[in-house]
This record gives sequence, structure tokens and C-alpha cells, in this order.
Amino acid sequence: MAKSHMLFSCQQCGATYKNWTGRCNKCGAWSSLIQQFDDDSREEKSAVGRSQISGRELNFVSIKDLSTSDEKNRLSTGFDDLNIVLGGGILPGSVMLLAGQPGIGKSTILMQICAEVAKTKNVLYVSGEESAGQVKLRAIRLGAESDNLKFASSTSANDIAKTIETGGFDLVIVDSIQTLTIAEIASAPGGISQVTNCGNLIIRAAKISETAVIIVGHVTKEGTLAGPKILEHLVDVVLNFEGDRYGGFKIIRAIKNRFGSTTEAAIFEMNQQGLTEVENPSAALLAERQNTDGSIILATLEGTRPILVEIQALVTPTNFGYPKRTASGFDLNRLNLLIAVIERRTKLKLNDKDVFINVVGGLRLQDSAADLAICLAIASAVAGRKLSEDFVVFGEVGLGGEVRSAFRPDQRISEAKKLGFAHAIAPSTVKDKFVIPVKDLRTTLIEYVNE
Ligand code: TYD
Ligand code: MG
Repeated sequence: MAKSHMLFSCQQCGATYKNWTGRCNKCGAWSSLIQQFDDDSREEKSAVGRSQISGRELNFVSIKDLSTSDEKNRLSTGFDDLNIVLGGGILPGSVMLLAGQPGIGKSTILMQICAEVAKTKNVLYVSGEESAGQVKLRAIRLGAESDNLKFASSTSANDIAKTIETGGFDLVIVDSIQTLTIAEIASAPGGISQVTNCGNLIIRAAKISETAVIIVGHVTKEGTLAGPKILEHLVDVVLNFEGDRYGGFKIIRAIKNRFGSTTEAAIFEMNQQGLTEVENPSAALLAERQNTDGSIILATLEGTRPILVEIQALVTPTNFGYPKRTASGFDLNRLNLLIAVIERRTKLKLNDKDVFINVVGGLRLQDSAADLAICLAIASAVAGRKLSEDFVVFGEVGLGGEVRSAFRPDQRISEAKKLGFAHAIAPSTVKDKFVIPVKDLRTTLIEYVNE
């Protein structure tokens, strides 16, 4: 085969190169390039060169006459919040990707969903990872045994697609895409060509037979989908399963959804009966609070749902070398930025201090309104002074040290009221009697921490 038809593609991000390099220039991953023979692109190139158009005219219909898959036919997952995340349940014929770290609970929640759907529909669980015995044990534990729930152990994408195509099942689970192979493709399972081609086969079968399919995908420690990102573009819905593997809350959110919004999130807890939805996350998160210095309650949002969560800061003198900054549940770059703002815009000096931030409960904050709470927690920790217990905090902090407005302040405030707080320290743009308005970081720190 001529050299020009050889391609090297990155297993991490899907970027392609003409020549092999040790490191992907796009995502920076080492040794991630794998050689591929690119037969399709050769045809494409020659087709582009042809001067005559060789297609047939499309058969089009008025958009009014198009039929839809019936919204009423959506399958319930058995979890109210997860149904909302999906836009009302699982749509027949839709293909979903459930991505998450190993051990977070993907197989567990899928078995629970199977149990619910199998009450009325035919469900098939295909596992390429676990033996029949392991799956059986989990099914017993979760009370998922049912005549309608079938199991098959397979790693052949062709066999699985064939089974889906027969239309005998309403829901098929494929656990996981990284174990599947197509015999004709030589590369190892989990590689870019295997994952794309296996994904395509299964998606085609699902669309032909109107079968809902959920595909499991593992993510790497860095949080990116292992194998090619390309699968995200092929499927209808991408669900991310995030959180701490060992306890704490686990959150499922849609990062792509062709049939609903991507603003909702479902919060779960793992226990003996598998995963259960957390009814009142704020109360659970605040239950163990010990009000010490460096502890601040942040009113944040998870999806569109308000949650109160404790932010803890610990500040210690730097013993040796550079000051250390560590954040768990918060973006480290953002923490460094906030520390720079504090140093420049207030009287607080942090250049000889180590700063540690912890967000309680395994939550990962993606809310820019967490800034003010982080700054107050740091200031309170530096002063060694514990603040009053009766307020919550929210607001973004700008580079000038100004406090800026936050999304959905009303929801944050009503959650704080519900849990018995007396007021909220919030941006001055929020007009509410409950709010003590603040304009900039410096005066806020002077007023509340005397620093
Ligand atoms: P699993 O669903 O297999 O994770 P994944 O498929 O994402 O790799 O299981 C996650 C963990 O949950 C596993 O370590 C055992 C634990 N677990 C429970 O605590 N309770 C349960 O009822 C089950 C089934 C699992
Ligand atoms: Mg699993």
C-alpha cells in the first residue's frame, strides 16, 4: 500500500497525522498514535476530483408530514431525576453513551435501569467485561432477576448488532465499547478504528430496529473518554457519570442530548441496594458540618438544582520552597487565579502560605459563583477566625476584585431559606431582603473577617 494512504491517529483525541510522532501535538498524549490504513479517504479524494455529479435527487417530504417517535413511548429508568436528565426517559431507537471512571457504578445503575424496564419490556444485557456469574450476583443483589431480562456474554460487535437488528428487544445494554471488536479489523479492542466501527455497527442496528441502546464507555483518569472522542459525535446522548469512587455523591449529567436539555443533573449515592437518588442533597451535605475557621457554606447549582455545600480552606505556613496550592473538587487554575486576586486587591498576603481547598461530599464545582465563597474561606482560615453560622455565600469574583452576579440567584436564596439560614452574602445586583449585598472583595473581607 502506498505510503500516502497510511494515517496515524491519536487514541486519546482522534487527531490524525501523516507521519508518526511520539507525542500527539493536539492533546499532548505520549505514544498514543496508532497506524491505520485509510482506504475510505482514497475514494473520497478521487470523488472530489470528478467533474460530474453522479447522485440521484433526494426524496423530500414536508416537515409537517414527518412522523416522530412517540414521546409517550419513552421508557422510564425508574429514577425520576435521571428521567429529567434524559428529557423524559429513554427514547426508543436512541443510542446513549454512559461514560465514567472504572468502578463509579455504571454497571450497577444500568442493571437497575434494566430491572425497571424489564417489568414491561424485553431487555438484553450484553457484557464483554464480566462473566455470567458476576453479572448474576449483581442482579440478585439489586433484585433485578426477571424473565424479560436476558443476558449474553460477547465481545463481537457484529453478533451484538445482528441481535439488536432482529428487533426482539426494546432496550439493549452494551458493557463496554472498549471490549468490542470486529474480526476484520486487526487492531486491538479499544483502539480508534475498533471503537468507531463497532459504534457505527451498533448505532445502525439500533436505528433500523428502533431499539434503545446504552453503550458503556470508560474514561481515563484525566476525565476524557478513552479511545476516540469520535463516539461522542455518533451517539444521540452522552451521559457523564462523575464523582468519587469511594463514597460521596455521584452525579449523572448529560453533556450532549439530542432529545432534551443539558442543564439537568441527577445525584446518587451508592449503598447496599445499589444506587439511590439523593432526595435532599443540601441537608445531607451539611449534616456533618463542624463550624471551624475556613468553613463557608456556598449556595451553588448542580444542573438547575440549588445545593448548599460546605467549602473548607486550610492555610499553613510554607516550610520549604514554593507555596503549595491544592484543590479537591475545584479547578486548581481558578484557585491560583483567586489567590492572585486576593494578593493584589486585598491586604491579605499568601505568598508564604500553603493553601488547601476541599469541597465536601465529593462534589466537583463548575459554578463560577463559587469564587466568593472560596475567597472568604481562605481569608477566614488565614485569620483563624470562624465566621457566623447563619449565612450562605455566592458570587463570582473578577480580576479587579469586584463581586459579580451569579446565575439563578432566586433558587440559591430559596434553598438557603429552606435550610434555615438567615441571610446570603451575594452580589449587589441581587435585590432581595435576604441578601447582604457586597460590591468588592476587599470591603467584604474587612467586614466579615476583619482582614
Ligand atoms: P460497578 O457498577 O461495577 O462500576 P463500573 O461498572 O462503573 O466499573 O461498581 C461500582 C462499585 O460499587 C463496586 O466497587 C462495588 C460497589 N457496589 C455497591 O457498593 N453496592 C452495590 O449494590 C453494587 C452492585 C456495587
Ligand atoms: Mg462495569
